Amino acid sequence: MDIHSEKILILDFGSQTTQLIARRIREQKVYCEIHPYNLSIAAIKQMAPKGIVLSGGPSSVYDPDAPHSDPALFALDIPVLGICYGAQLMTLQLGGRVEKAEKREFGKAELEVLYTAGLFAGMETDDASYQVWMSHGDRIEELPTGFTVSSKSGHSPNAAIRHTDKPLVGVQFHPEVSHTLIGTDVLRNFIFGLCDCKPLWTMQSFVASTVAAIKKQVGDGKVICALSGGVDSSVTAALIHKAVGDRLTCIFVDNGLLRTRESESVLRFFREKTGLHVVAVDAVDFFLQELDGIEDPEVKRKRIGLGFIKIFEEEAKKVGNAKFLGQGTLYPDVIESVSIKGPSAIIKSHHNVGGLPEVMKLSLLEPLRELFKDEVRLVGLELGLPEEAIFRQPFPGPGLAIRILGEVTLERLAIIRQADVIVLEEMKRSGWYGKVWQSFAVLLPIQTVGVMGDERTYENVVAIRCVDSKDAMTADWTTLPYELLGKISSRIINEVRGVNRVVYDISSKPPSTIEWE
Ligand code: XMP
Repeated sequence: MDIHSEKILILDFGSQTTQLIARRIREQKVYCEIHPYNLSIAAIKQMAPKGIVLSGGPSSVYDPDAPHSDPALFALDIPVLGICYGAQLMTLQLGGRVEKAEKREFGKAELEVLYTAGLFAGMETDDASYQVWMSHGDRIEELPTGFTVSSKSGHSPNAAIRHTDKPLVGVQFHPEVSHTLIGTDVLRNFIFGLCDCKPLWTMQSFVASTVAAIKKQVGDGKVICALSGGVDSSVTAALIHKAVGDRLTCIFVDNGLLRTRESESVLRFFREKTGLHVVAVDAVDFFLQELDGIEDPEVKRKRIGLGFIKIFEEEAKKVGNAKFLGQGTLYPDVIESVSIKGPSAIIKSHHNVGGLPEVMKLSLLEPLRELFKDEVRLVGLELGLPEEAIFRQPFPGPGLAIRILGEVTLERLAIIRQADVIVLEEMKRSGWYGKVWQSFAVLLPIQTVGVMGDERTYENVVAIRCVDSKDAMTADWTTLPYELLGKISSRIINEVRGVNRVVYDISSKPPSTIEWE
């Protein structure tokens, strides 16, 4: 059975929560894909989805340049769920009326269900109300012919609508966000009730079908893969290894910018626990030389990226005759380049191996390009990778070079490594490590006055950065307990020679970024 056969198509109108819709559907074990709102009818027919979701979006449907999909999609006899903007567009394109609401509705609202079948199957009408999440300035004023209302809220008399004999439904609220307490039920009613999907999308079936696909693509060719020890490259390598065995060679480059003992522990782990063939390259001196005297963060990034390509290319030649390059590209990277916002330069600059396939004339093997991060982790568990490898915090490709502001020297690397170990130890000991997106130390390019014993000191400042995030696109600084911050601070000042001050970063992203660089 093809695990992609029962799919839902999501048309993106630019909502912040489009990816969340996809993740919620995938959680129900149904495959879905996000495409731009203006996907052609021919392309939709070719995909043959079991259902279509029209996402929310920041525009007003009646704006002159508002994104509109081809209204012919409503006549395909495929169930359609419009969410917020999507519901308003469905209304407008089928002959109803949408207007600016007198009162905008943002945040929690109580929904009264009027029709307990279809999207609201299993729910009650009388004396019941359900908490939903709203975020709209326009509202549906007049329904198109053939439609009727199926639920209402205080400010939205048409909070949910349905066609009486076609599978077309719309909701003004956002079923994908967790504040909509009936959100999962509504989505399940759509994908299993209206669309009649089967839950084929499990990570077990993903592994089986992907391994088969890799075997077919690679034939008896050789594959190389850069292994950093991070989740994405580890799972990519483990998956390819399952398909092609020792025709996969992984290359681990120690660029001297890794955390304390990172290099030994990654190598030991992969060699002992996974049977992967890993070539380790000691490029510590090379990278330090490349970074000598460089202070500008973009120049650092470029030098590290180019240096990596050079080393990788040299090593790959030694493997001989490899035709494929394994890469841990994830679905959010793929969507970013097809979304209505157009290709994103920013994301690409994060990939150190960008540029390699062209340089080396390799075909790309990207077995994770359909997956979200949480799915990658599940695949890792399915492949037997241990939890400590899978639930690690992300670590940037340019490593500690972007956590040392200003020049990267051996001395400054030693300082940041010791501070980093202390942050890691204390985060783990207190149980906070797994609760946050990232937690790390940054070495600042300034010195400040302090006093130790009877002596005046003039030494370095370390900043602690700790953030909560879902996907690193936005992040909030974590409200770590004062006691924990105090412990980290006093340990760093006492144990790390050359540091006399520790500060905590209380900036969110945006407008700040997670890394300081
Ligand atoms: P910023 O600093 O842009 O970071 O808010 C967002 C997330 O991306 C990570 N990051 C990188 N990851 N290569 C990577 O693989 C990179 O060059 C890179 N730069 C930043 C960062 O740690 C955060 O999780």
